[in-house]
Amino acid sequence: MKFVVTAGPTREPIDPIRFLSNRSSGKMGYAIASAAIEEGHEVTLISGPVALSPPPSARLIQVTTSDQMCDAVHGALAKTDVLVMCAAVADYKPASTANEKIKKRDKAFSLELIPTRDILKSLPKRRDYLVVGFAAETNEVEKQAREKLRHKNCDMIVANDVSGSDIGMESDENAVTIFLRDGEMKKISRAPKEKIAHALVKIILETSKKF
Ligand code: CTP
Repeated sequence: MKFVVTAGPTREPIDPIRFLSNRSSGKMGYAIASAAIEEGHEVTLISGPVALSPPPSARLIQVTTSDQMCDAVHGALAKTDVLVMCAAVADYKPASTANEKIKKRDKAFSLELIPTRDILKSLPKRRDYLVVGFAAETNEVEKQAREKLRHKNCDMIVANDVSGSDIGMESDENAVTIFLRDGEMKKISRAPKEKIAHALVKIILETSKKF
């Protein structure tokens, strides 16, 4: 099967030396790409800036901004069987980017932010590949994840609780709950991200046969 996996954060430039971003390390997305490759699948890995080595046989597309990630995803979708949107795409970007470094002044400063394109929502409703979204939540995890599954027209949502500091974002371990569009729910209990990734790839394959 052909997988497209997105991973890591995006960076939204404010000026030539500053950007808005988030704490995503890319570890979960890279682990999913590695697990899929180890199980014999072909992987295109679309990655934001991270400090990780990609699996050697992945086709790596490096991007920086949410717009670049959106274009890269759309460009990679032909002949794809599964899209895994693990990247922590920024929700907002500066309304404009200064061409020169913004100088310090002695008064308050506000930055106008505009929404980025939502990659999942930009996908066609009728398609022949499975779409797996992620939901990073700090509260009401199940409710928010089920809403995201519907709003973002996903086939499957992988929810992780990011309220603790020792699990999820930046950590080597994770625990996830998976919601399928037919209402089914599956849990993968706390484990290293590599182990979670293998279990996820297995569930993705089972789900792609079902839908
Ligand atoms: N996502 C996306 N495009 C964006 C933002 C997020 O496709 N511009 C995807 C992420 O890759 C993930 C899913 O949407 O698979 C959910 O991301 P999350 O950050 O949990 O949700 P948001 O849509 O950003 O909503 P909120 O931050 O309000 O929870």
